[in-house]
Amino acid sequence: MLLALLLFFHRMWLGGTDLIIYPVSPGVVSSDKFSVEVKQGSSAFQGSFVYISHSNNRVGQSPSVKPNRTVSWTSFGFTGDSVNVNVITVKDFKECTVRPESYGIPCTRLREKTASFEMTSNTQKISVEFDYDYGSLKSDIVDKLLIFANPPETYVPEPSNPSVLYYGCDVYDLGGQLQLSSNIRHVYLAPGAFVNGGFRTTSRHPVTISGRGILSGAKYRFHDPRFLWGLINVDIGVNQTVEGITMVDSPQFFYRGLSSYNVVRNIKTVAPWTYNSDGIGIGAYGLVEDSFFQTNDDTFKVYNDGLTVRRCVVWQAQNGAVFQFGWWKQRKAKNIFIGEIDVIHTDWCTFKKQPCSLSQNDAVLDLGGRTTAFNTTNVTISDIRVEGQCPRIFYFVMDPMAKGTVTNFYLNNWSIQSQAESTKLYNELRGAYLGGRIKSWFFNRLYISGKCIVDPGSANIRVDLNTTFNINFSCA
Ligand SMILES: *[C@@H]1O[C@H](CO)[C@@H](O)[C@H](O)[C@H]1NC(C)=O
Ligand SMILES: *[C@@H]1O[C@H](CO)[C@@H](O)[C@H](O)[C@H]1NC(C)=O
Ligand SMILES: *[C@@H]1O[C@H](CO)[C@@H](O)[C@H](O)[C@H]1NC(C)=O
Ligand SMILES: *[C@@H]1O[C@H](CO)[C@@H](O)[C@H](O)[C@H]1NC(C)=O
Ligand SMILES: *[C@@H]1O[C@H](CO)[C@@H](O)[C@H](O)[C@H]1NC(C)=O
Ligand SMILES: *[C@@H]1O[C@H](CO)[C@@H](O)[C@H](O)[C@H]1NC(C)=O
Ligand SMILES: *[C@@H]1O[C@H](CO)[C@@H](O)[C@H](O)[C@H]1NC(C)=O
Repeated sequence: MLLALLLFFHRMWLGGTDLIIYPVSPGVVSSDKFSVEVKQGSSAFQGSFVYISHSNNRVGQSPSVKPNRTVSWTSFGFTGDSVNVNVITVKDFKECTVRPESYGIPCTRLREKTASFEMTSNTQKISVEFDYDYGSLKSDIVDKLLIFANPPETYVPEPSNPSVLYYGCDVYDLGGQLQLSSNIRHVYLAPGAFVNGGFRTTSRHPVTISGRGILSGAKYRFHDPRFLWGLINVDIGVNQTVEGITMVDSPQFFYRGLSSYNVVRNIKTVAPWTYNSDGIGIGAYGLVEDSFFQTNDDTFKVYNDGLTVRRCVVWQAQNGAVFQFGWWKQRKAKNIFIGEIDVIHTDWCTFKKQPCSLSQNDAVLDLGGRTTAFNTTNVTISDIRVEGQCPRIFYFVMDPMAKGTVTNFYLNNWSIQSQAESTKLYNELRGAYLGGRIKSWFFNRLYISGKCIVDPGSANIRVDLNTTFNINFSCA
């Protein structure tokens, strides 16, 4: 009772003091581009360690890798009152921006080389950008900074439990993707843990991979054969959960889990330097929520029945789609819901000759590869906000040999800040002459540059009239 009272008054005087600074493993090198300090209420600022990943680690391994790029990031946890964040840069600036803009976080210059703002929720995952390096259609941001605020952990397993693989605050090298033996039920990466490697399930029971630590692929070559598909592969099993961790510089996908009822929550993927750094390929009834994806290939594979994706932030790098429906021979899927996605960058045109032209797999909503058998219906994708100049929103063009239908798409409340203009860029919806049909797509309140779109022509969308039916634009 007395303790509770004391704690109560402590909070009254200091404001919320539930700020969780994570420890750092010995030997991990901090960013030389940014440092970050945080505080809650009237307590003093404390440093929050800033990690860094360099693209030079991957130069020459895949054609797209541009040298001299970095991503810096930091994570902390909190509950209660908002957190004041200061970012110290190496160059001075006049203006700074926090994305997603939908968070409405004003960024101000506090003093020379110092930006200041508030994070109001522990589910926010942001990019902080400076006027000396805002990027453009032709160049991405050279030195990126991401900040991740987490809720406190709700369950930390016992290190001594034989069904737990526990990685404390230290650096580990797994020598590739660790195949989890059948007794393992939980893999835990404590705050500050820096694990070089990945994990793969091997038996048919649920496994949880959680914590606030880091799983890095930086030590492994692009397409290292010791990794099956991704840093994490939970294709085998059912009801697997991946929660809370940060995944870095993957040699291929970040996550693949084609088994059913899998959950991905509050994860962050950063530094996708090579092609094939896809975000999430997930099985039937998969749930992906409150996560941040910086990817350099498809972010979400929209492939299976009952998929739900919500409240995620996406930074789409040079390659791939945000919502990808294609690649494999068949696309049979129904009852999909995707909502509240902030796409903060679409970097497809960067590093390319101008005027930019795109490969068929680059668009927000896309059908890439040679899918020839469709039976896809009841797909709702709502509240999609795309920041900046977007080179291409829709590219849903069937292979000429395709058969089957893609019907009942409800695209509600999309807002595109602006479309990039180039003679070579346009959106397109097209089925296949041999039988592939696109039917009953409802674009309800599609806004581009603040204007609601009532017909495809005014949004630079080519709709093939022979193979599509009932494509409906409405602003009601
Ligand atoms: C990368 O940075 C190094 C060192 O500053 C410089 O010598 C090199 O020219 C840069 N490479 C490119 C392609 O900009
Ligand atoms: C997996 O989740 C589904 C849906 O929640 C449930 O019906 C099923 O019993 C779970 N299976 C296991 C093995 O946990
Ligand atoms: C369509 O999918 C949603 C999930 O996104 C589901 O709730 C709804 O029942 C489905 N509608 C039909 C007619 O199956
Ligand atoms: C499409 O899939 C549904 C089940 O989702 C099935 O009932 C229907 O027969 C399929 N249609 C075709 C043409 O294969
Ligand atoms: C549409 O999106 C805006 C901006 O994100 C949001 O404020 C609004 O509530 C949404 N409207 C509907 C009907 O979902
Ligand atoms: C539709 O198909 C007909 C016959 O094949 C062709 O003449 C016409 O150009 C096509 N129309 C469009 C809009 O592609
Ligand atoms: C488009 O959809 C709205 C609402 O469902 C409907 O009222 C309208 O008639 C449709 N327009 C066309 C051209 O199908």
